[in-house]
Amino acid sequence: MSIPEPAHFRQVLGQYPTGVVVVTALDAEGRPLGMTVGSFTSVSLDPPLVAFLPDQSSSSWRALRESGDRFCVNVLGAHQEDVCRAIAVRKTDKFDGIGWRTSPQGNPIIDGAVAYIDCTTEQIHGAGDHHIVVGRVQHLDLVGAEEPLLFFRGGYGSFAPLSLASAGTADLLEHLRLVDLARPQMEALAARFDTEVTAIALVRDELVLAAAAGRTRLAVAPTRVGQRLPFIPPLGSCFAAWGDDRVRNAWLQEGVQHVPALVRQRGYSVALGHGTGAQLEELSTRFHQGDAGVSREELLEAIASSVSDYNPASHDGPVELRFLSAPVFDADGRVAFTLTLWGPPGEVGPDQVALRVDALLAAAAAATAGIGGVPPRADALELAVS
Ligand SMILES: Cc1cc2nc3c(=O)[nH]c(=O)nc-3n(C[C@H](O)[C@H](O)[C@H](O)COP(=O)(O)O)c2cc1C
Repeated sequence: MSIPEPAHFRQVLGQYPTGVVVVTALDAEGRPLGMTVGSFTSVSLDPPLVAFLPDQSSSSWRALRESGDRFCVNVLGAHQEDVCRAIAVRKTDKFDGIGWRTSPQGNPIIDGAVAYIDCTTEQIHGAGDHHIVVGRVQHLDLVGAEEPLLFFRGGYGSFAPLSLASAGTADLLEHLRLVDLARPQMEALAARFDTEVTAIALVRDELVLAAAAGRTRLAVAPTRVGQRLPFIPPLGSCFAAWGDDRVRNAWLQEGVQHVPALVRQRGYSVALGHGTGAQLEELSTRFHQGDAGVSREELLEAIASSVSDYNPASHDGPVELRFLSAPVFDADGRVAFTLTLWGPPGEVGPDQVALRVDALLAAAAAATAGIGGVPPRADALELAVS
């Protein structure tokens, strides 16, 4: 291909959204240097490598390179568009009015950044009119709870999860951070049973599908990450089972009073029946896609009428196993989120159910450890329940 029109090239490539970072270092006189970069990416976990792509003609990149073989990547927050613009301009006193402190390696960490990644320069490759700078991560941490700044089609914005934004975004982000740490367990469990594993968080009064791994072979794929469902019976029984009184009382209704104790005693919740399950998932997907043909009342009714499919007194015979859910606990022994293992099509016998229960409980326990959580003390639960 001949060289494309630069404007066309930018327009097409601008369809791909990026985050925004400022790469920083100190010059020989100890003055802060910075460059606004959208081409930052993580590269490798072992060894820990990241990369960014500076224009070879950039004076900011030249100054950074000349300052030494270390730099710090600052992930900007959604409120830092002004910082992004100030550092992107071609001038020398870029840090006027911008607060910063030094990183473990002695590079600037900009006040208000979401995260920093302190690196040493590992490799610099030529790539057309740019360089590919590979950094070896020496230190990194989260330093702010803000959402990150995003750059898309020449404009700035921030991340909004799919569908209704009624639950607090900050609450959801904390859940997403924890769920992200449990990804390895979710992926392994999904791969073992060739199915889908979803993570569901309780954010205020809604259940939010926070992440999904693998693919279900069931007719209706419930994987719309960001999808929300009301926290009402029979949905979210694990949160009612291990939650405090406030959470449980918000959930409890006629006909399900026995469910929290049953779920706690089993260690998991279970849903049976592919037909009704599929109907409910289809209805909720349509509702969340804004289908005017599905009212909230209709959805609530469908949820309420599926109570008998959830947490039956026994599931010993061959059953249509829709899903099993188990809790992952945070550092305070509260349910951070639940892991849901979707069943196979058709019926399964008790041994197949038991196999999945064991694997799910092991994955949930490993995820609890993985996020630095602890299971709640049994006596604390008894107190909360009595
Ligand atoms: C959102 C955003 C992303 C950018 N990403 C890159 C990038 O990945 N690589 C790059 O060389 N310049 C990038 N730039 C441009 C530089 O930040 C800076 O404006 C340019 O290097 C100015 O030239 P100078 O370094 O000679 O002062 C970006 C600018 C903005 C506003």
